[in-house]
Amino acid sequence: MDRLITIERHILNQEHEHPEATGVFSNLLYDIALAAKIIARETRRAGLSQLLGMAGTVNVQGEQQMKLDTFANETFIRMNAGSGRIAVMASEESSGIIPIPEERCCDGRYVLLFDPLDGSSNIDANVSVGTIFGIYRRISESGPGTLEDCLQPGRALAAAGYVIYSTSTMLVYTTGQGVDGFTLDPTLGEFLLTHPNLRFPATPAYYSANQANEQFWSAGAQRYTRWLQGMDPDEPSKPLAARYVGSLVADFHRNLVGGGVYYYPADTRNPRGKLRLAYEAAPLAFVAQQAGGLASDGRQPILDIQPDSLHQRTPLFVGNRSLVERAEQFIQRYDRD
Ligand code: AHG
Ligand code: MN
Ligand code: MN
Repeated sequence: MDRLITIERHILNQEHEHPEATGVFSNLLYDIALAAKIIARETRRAGLSQLLGMAGTVNVQGEQQMKLDTFANETFIRMNAGSGRIAVMASEESSGIIPIPEERCCDGRYVLLFDPLDGSSNIDANVSVGTIFGIYRRISESGPGTLEDCLQPGRALAAAGYVIYSTSTMLVYTTGQGVDGFTLDPTLGEFLLTHPNLRFPATPAYYSANQANEQFWSAGAQRYTRWLQGMDPDEPSKPLAARYVGSLVADFHRNLVGGGVYYYPADTRNPRGKLRLAYEAAPLAFVAQQAGGLASDGRQPILDIQPDSLHQRTPLFVGNRSLVERAEQFIQRYDRD
């Protein structure tokens, strides 16, 4: 690349392609990028938090440390609640909708759903974690945003993306014009465009699933796994490599860059799956679709599911289109109803 493009410049360039844009949406994306930088800073210091305190305060009195997912949740809420751009929010870490203070809510045109810290059980082991977000336009006409504003199918997403806090911090997002990836340059404090127009590579390399659960999966999910391993008795295939760290964002990102499929099927203990539709599956489904991939619950596209509750779960198969379509075929063939 011959020129450095910051995320601000990129967002502005995209805005200029839409003469009707008011700039509100662009500012909302900046707010998210800033929240990501703040969370990235804290995740880097996570191992030191006992010594240093979490939010920069020296913790010599031994006061209660804030858990990183609570910190990330509060950061997202703080960065967005007072902006006047958001009508209502919802998060994995908050049981109901997160109302916006009365004086700021009613002009807000957007709805923000997020998983503030994905893969949080990995923090103590220094393994990558992430943030997932989805942005909808409000459907209520005026006044405070409502639960109904938050319960929209993924097809209605205006933007979605994720941040991965890893060897470097990356922000990857789409507004429906392809997927772009930005890497945080810590010396500049800027997200720079490093991965323009991300697409799943044509030839996949990986599959990612918690195979310890296989005994609880349906016959279709089990047969699909044999096929991914090149062990299907009827259909020979080239085996893929297994990679799973247990942070959806990290596993998804690896598969986006290297080609592959992530899946967390329904099982006998979690008949509706484990992952959350609104702030995990749907935003990543939009990113996947914009990168030439697909997301499915095994029977229908994730983007078509109309949520009926905020924390609703769904089975998820996401990644290269050809691999996700295969999953649907195996489920169709081997699973009744
Ligand atoms: P979260 O940390 O936001 O609760 O999400 C954890 C999710 C997801 O990131 C990951 O892929 C999955 O749970 C891992 O589950 P298992 O430990 O059951 O494999
Ligand atoms: Mn999560
Ligand atoms: Mn989480």
